[in-house]
Amino acid sequence: MGTATGSKRRTVAVFGAYGHTGRFVVAELRARGFHPVAVGRDAGKLRAFAAAEPGPALDARTASVDDAASLDRALAGADAVINCAGPFAVTAAPVIEAALRAGIPYVDVAAEIEANVDTFAHFTERARAAGALIVPAMAFYGGLGDLLVTAAMGDWTAADEAHIAYGLSGWHPTAGTREAGAVSRERRDGRRVRYANGGLEYRDDAAPGLKWSFPEPMGTRAVIGEFSMADIVTVPSHLSVPDVTTYMTVEAAGELADPETPAPTASDERGRSEQTFLVDAVVRSGGVERRAVARGQDIYAVSAPLAVEAVDRVLTGRTRAKGVVSAGAAFDAADFLRALSAHLTVELVG
Ligand SMILES: NC(=O)c1ccc[n+]([C@@H]2O[C@H](COP(=O)([O-])OP(=O)(O)OC[C@H]3O[C@@H](n4cnc5c(N)ncnc54)[C@H](OP(=O)(O)O)[C@@H]3O)[C@@H](O)[C@H]2O)c1
Repeated sequence: MGTATGSKRRTVAVFGAYGHTGRFVVAELRARGFHPVAVGRDAGKLRAFAAAEPGPALDARTASVDDAASLDRALAGADAVINCAGPFAVTAAPVIEAALRAGIPYVDVAAEIEANVDTFAHFTERARAAGALIVPAMAFYGGLGDLLVTAAMGDWTAADEAHIAYGLSGWHPTAGTREAGAVSRERRDGRRVRYANGGLEYRDDAAPGLKWSFPEPMGTRAVIGEFSMADIVTVPSHLSVPDVTTYMTVEAAGELADPETPAPTASDERGRSEQTFLVDAVVRSGGVERRAVARGQDIYAVSAPLAVEAVDRVLTGRTRAKGVVSAGAAFDAADFLRALSAHLTVELVG
């Protein structure tokens, strides 16, 4: 893993810095030699977070999505912004607007399907015209799956189907995850969504229950099919694949749905929980199958190196596209995944 390159230390604003994911992002930026600016809407929580941070004093600025001038002050002097404050239905557009005014790239960790669709729909043309880069869902959901599918595709430019199966040991969701789920359910009017036949489909029927054959040692497990995650937006945003389906192990889906499931707690010196994950991405074209598998620990913690690696690549010109782009479109997917070897074990098959 490299450190921030270039002649000066790169400054990266983190909106939602004192949230569970924001804290991992601030720590990762520091570990990689960036200068983080912690931004949040609550001055007291921001102060407490900055005071508790080890090392040199943290630059902390209060800003609210309802006050554009406060966002402009928060982004002043920053080379990029990472938005970790969800629901993104509320935060994405104002922070993107501020990034466009500041002329800096924007990366977020949004796992909300509709919010990610909105980011593509509302900002693609303006971002292209401005030569700006906006990378939504640059995290475990939406980002990692897209990188795995893109890497598995290899020299294919199209495929018949893509499948991403999430084998989580369990899922202790944060308050932010629960809130994102509630906002998404409300926006869907209680329906569920899938990506099939080249588009998003809203449906009233129950999601299918089936078995997924994960690589050993996980093996065959019961999963919920069409358990749609942000990958159903990011993958088809740049790859010609008419059916993109995501799956979730039933135990993890059950813990997520249970209001009694506690929030994640740290189990190691990096603050990661005990949760482990296996992400199995399979693409099929004309009867041929290719696969990419990632293994690691803690879906929230791993979102930090994903987002920070993206910012590092954007700030050092290692990007393939401008506008609103997902991880797989913006970066060399296989090279990106290799760069995360301290955080992820990745295997390409076929
Ligand atoms: N794609 C992925 O794989 C992935 C991974 C990690 C996280 N996420 C998403 O990232 C978001 C944060 O997750 P988390 O785990 O960090 O949750 P969290 O610990 O509950 O933190 C949420 C953060 O968002 C802030 N926030 C909420 N509404 C805000 C608003 N209107 N304006 C400004 N700040 C606001 C909160 O500030 P206050 O305390 O002041 O309310 C807090 O700092 C969620 O939407 C989650 O789904 C996605």
